Amino acid sequence: MLNEKATVARHEDIGSGYRYLALSSPLVSSQARPGQFVHVKVPGLEDSALRRPFSIFDADGDMLTLLYKKVGRGTAALNLVKEGDTVEVLGSLGRGFPAACSGTALLVGGGYGIAPLHFLAKRLPGRKIVFAGGRTESDILAADRFAALGVETRFATNDGSLGEKGFVTLPLDAEIERLKAAHEPFELFTCGPDGLLKAVADRALAAGVPGWISMDRHMICGVGACYACVQKTVRGNSRCCIEGPVFPAEELVWE
Ligand SMILES: Cc1cc2nc3c(=O)[nH]c(=O)nc-3n(C[C@H](O)[C@H](O)[C@H](O)COP(=O)(O)OP(=O)(O)OC[C@H]3O[C@@H](n4cnc5c(N)ncnc54)[C@H](O)[C@@H]3O)c2cc1C
Ligand code: FES
Repeated sequence: MLNEKATVARHEDIGSGYRYLALSSPLVSSQARPGQFVHVKVPGLEDSALRRPFSIFDADGDMLTLLYKKVGRGTAALNLVKEGDTVEVLGSLGRGFPAACSGTALLVGGGYGIAPLHFLAKRLPGRKIVFAGGRTESDILAADRFAALGVETRFATNDGSLGEKGFVTLPLDAEIERLKAAHEPFELFTCGPDGLLKAVADRALAAGVPGWISMDRHMICGVGACYACVQKTVRGNSRCCIEGPVFPAEELVWE
């Protein structure tokens, strides 16, 4: 784990309030693995302010990219950083996704949950299909970046403006049925709102295949000391920042 003073290389709007923040962060970038996160000291907040956790959207050479949305005080301050500014980044943190998958990898994301799935799609060998859902077309993030990776994508929106009309579980269930009928192995990987995580975990358990679930829990220290981020598992309380954020589906206890 490293605390690196990174330099802002690009800060780019991508619509719907989301932005890419590209940081020159050679040390953290070289260690980063898909599903891990960084804990960012946001410039402009007082020194005693808590850091904010963000998934790694991409780590490429020296460059570490985050995908984030302004939702409160910390992300509002982060929104103000400019090219050339320094941002302190602690990382890379947590237990990410596995580095290999047997059969087709089905990556299911919602909202900013798509961020770690982009990095995973880039690094994971073999066939991958990305499933992304939202209320409307503009909620589907980074579609161009997945296309640039050459990864298959299936979209669903509540209003039908992009892909199938309905929840993302519609195209997901169709693909699961197809793979099961063809006796082809597959694994599930997900990050997003809790409802989606549980839906994907349930499907992995029902199909008897590995499911890798990235939990989003409020964090304070990010390094295992405060127990703010506990998730109930079959092994008791687990810290999302150390034992997670990615957990095997069969270990999670939903409340
Ligand atoms: C492992 C992990 C990875 C994350 N990755 C990303 C990412 O890639 N992109 C991104 O935009 N955000 C990500 N988040 C959420 C991000 O950390 C929060 O949005 C951020 O800390 C909010 O800070 P704030 O001061 O702006 O908002 P606050 O003022 O602290 O909160 C504003 C609102 O956001 C809600 N909020 C705060 N933290 C979270 C959270 N963890 N999950 C859901 N809602 C929250 C609060 O309940 C409140 O309603 C991640 C969180 C975790 C735990
Ligand atoms: S955030 Fe402190 S233990 Fe996880």
